[in-house]
Amino acid sequence: GTTVRYEAENAAITQGVVESNHAGYSGTGFVNYDSAVGSSVQWTVTAPTAGTATLRLRYANGTTANRPMDITVNGTLVADEFAFTGTGAWTTWQTRTLTVTLPAGTSTIRATATTASGGPNVDYLEVQR
Ligand code: GCU
Repeated sequence: GTTVRYEAENAAITQGVVESNHAGYSGTGFVNYDSAVGSSVQWTVTAPTAGTATLRLRYANGTTANRPMDITVNGTLVADEFAFTGTGAWTTWQTRTLTVTLPAGTSTIRATATTASGGPNVDYLEVQR
């Protein structure tokens, strides 16, 4: 299959800022979510044909507390309070994967913080088909 990487710093950011002060990220930086419920990053992705896809979210969480996020595809919740547990340091990046179905054409994939701490630092979304 093919894997396409979509950097978080190029996505649509609501209540978050692009930063680059923690090494190990891909591209030119990562998104530091604001400490708020509802802070989010939304990617626009394209798939030539409908079918299943593996989503891979790369993140860092230098705390010991989970930073859960709701994951939606075209507005439909596909992962409720998906866990982003501590990675040990803000410079330690890990990935979480989930399998979704994408229609042909353009889709929006959104990761929205569900706690007052906001999301983890998010590096990118990869879509593997
Ligand atoms: C620290 C860290 C940030 C991170 C923040 C947080 O300030 O430097 O990169 O986003 O903690 O707790 O979310």
